[in-house]
Amino acid sequence: MKKLSGKTAFITGAAMGLGEGIAKVYAGYGANLLLADINPKVEQVAKELNEQYGVETVTAVIDVADAKSCKAAAQKGIEKFGKFDILCAIAGVCKLENFLEMSEEDLDFHINVNIKGVWNTTKAVLPYMLENKGGNIVVMSSVTGDLVADPGEVAYALSKAALIGFTKALAVEYAPQNIRVNAIQLGYARTPMAERIAMQSNPDDPEAVLTEMAKSIPMRRLGLPTEVGELAAFLGCSESSYITGSQFVIDGGSTLPESVSVGV
Ligand SMILES: NC(=O)c1ccc[n+]([C@@H]2O[C@H](COP(=O)([O-])OP(=O)(O)OC[C@H]3O[C@@H](n4cnc5c(N)ncnc54)[C@H](O)[C@@H]3O)[C@@H](O)[C@H]2O)c1
Repeated sequence: MKKLSGKTAFITGAAMGLGEGIAKVYAGYGANLLLADINPKVEQVAKELNEQYGVETVTAVIDVADAKSCKAAAQKGIEKFGKFDILCAIAGVCKLENFLEMSEEDLDFHINVNIKGVWNTTKAVLPYMLENKGGNIVVMSSVTGDLVADPGEVAYALSKAALIGFTKALAVEYAPQNIRVNAIQLGYARTPMAERIAMQSNPDDPEAVLTEMAKSIPMRRLGLPTEVGELAAFLGCSESSYITGSQFVIDGGSTLPESVSVGV
């Protein structure tokens, strides 16, 4: 039996990038999936996973910043599967901007999607998990904000650091009800978001940004969405049954170097 067989997972941000990679790993481990995204491409992802892995899939095209549509999506999942075992709150946005040029709209954009999006999806799913006497919530934070940052990331960093507080507070509140909550702190994986960040950093040569990024990482490469998927699957399954309120850095060692000049 596969480690997620018989489980139902709600994954947001599943149309591309990490959410898609996580959905693929979850499907490979036998989970049935409610896949949500603001981009209708999520329907194609669901169709492919259904065909490739034989798992049941449902989709919801929603804006996670809108609490009502998150609830409607969860309802759709419950009608199909009757329960939720896992929530992977992955949908997120990042726009680089100089702090003084960052508008209130830019700040709200990060807060609404990155913080309220996780808040809304968790609120939509948690009552069903309580009904089911347990569940696992996997929150996509970042190394950015809590551990490191690059210029232009103030709004993004504050939103991702906030998710660490969210994870810990929710974990301690619901541990007695057998709800586990853990956060993933990723360095860089090559996704449409990473490519957009590279484009914002150097519109003339975004590929050079990604190449330099890889060089600065001790493992000399960016992560793969499926590598993040393996961590998310571990956190979502019973192998991690005594882990809650924890932060997991997955970064190829990117947060390790103390300097770029010292060493043998
Ligand atoms: N890529 C990285 O290197 C990296 C590193 C650390 C953390 N993260 C985090 O991982 C998550 C996924 O990142 P990614 O690189 O796959 O990004 P991406 O932009 O490649 O994909 C994000 C997905 O989320 C969806 N989405 C965006 N706003 C939404 C909304 N309001 N409602 C519903 N869906 C929405 C997009 O349509 C897209 O499918 C984000 O939370 C990001 O902050 C990414």
